[in-house]
Amino acid sequence: MRALVLLCLLHGAFLKNPFSWNEGAATRIQEQPYVCRADQASCGCCLMQKKMQRMESFFNMTVEELSKNLTNSKMALDDVRASRSAFSVSLHDATNDDCFGPFTDDRVIRYQHVFLNLGDGYDARTGTFTAPRSGVYSLAVTVYSDAVIGPGAHLAVNSQVVATLQEKKSQDLDDSATAVVSVKLKAGDKVAVQLPKGSLICDRQSYLNTFTGFLLYPC
Ligand SMILES: *[C@@H]1O[C@H](CO)[C@@H](O)[C@H](O)[C@H]1NC(C)=O
Ligand SMILES: *[C@@H]1O[C@H](CO)[C@@H](O)[C@H](O)[C@H]1NC(C)=O
Repeated sequence: MRALVLLCLLHGAFLKNPFSWNEGAATRIQEQPYVCRADQASCGCCLMQKKMQRMESFFNMTVEELSKNLTNSKMALDDVRASRSAFSVSLHDATNDDCFGPFTDDRVIRYQHVFLNLGDGYDARTGTFTAPRSGVYSLAVTVYSDAVIGPGAHLAVNSQVVATLQEKKSQDLDDSATAVVSVKLKAGDKVAVQLPKGSLICDRQSYLNTFTGFLLYPC
């Protein structure tokens, strides 16, 4: 009964001046969001919960992305570590006075003294370096002879000559030659130094004939 009266009163107020903002009834209608006003504590809590959920999912996404990035970085680092390749060898060690050559044909020089063989790419039995993976490699060869016959060498990849070292005897007997090249190798490519026929190299209790290579970067 009381509700009915109230309804009637409200209705009356509206009919009287439906567009007036100053009317008490209209003002009351503007303040409609009674739901929150009725239980302010639970409403604030609900909003906060929503915000926290949004924050949590943002953090979750960030953490997921960071963890994915970390995994990628670790894999890249492992790859770099696994592909380390460097070798440096000389004809003999410092106690050896031997020469190699001359021969009537080209011969692969089997460098016997190993300074460094990171990645085990160099095989002293064959004198050959096998590229463990594709990439750009830096290769260097130095030959020396102090005999009447001059030193020489062919740096070869899969038996194809990529650099030639030659030193013709002129005034003195002390002669050496060096070549440094960067080459793109495929995994499994074989690099060796050949002594050309008629050439001679000698170690005089020093590391005078060296062969060095390393992976500059994989590609
Ligand atoms: C965030 O991650 C935790 C742990 O994996 C999970 O329990 C929670 O439901 C996630 N939150 C959101 C909003 O995705
Ligand atoms: C993850 O890595 C990508 C690509 O490298 C980068 O754009 C992104 O900003 C990284 N994400 C974070 C959270 O560091």
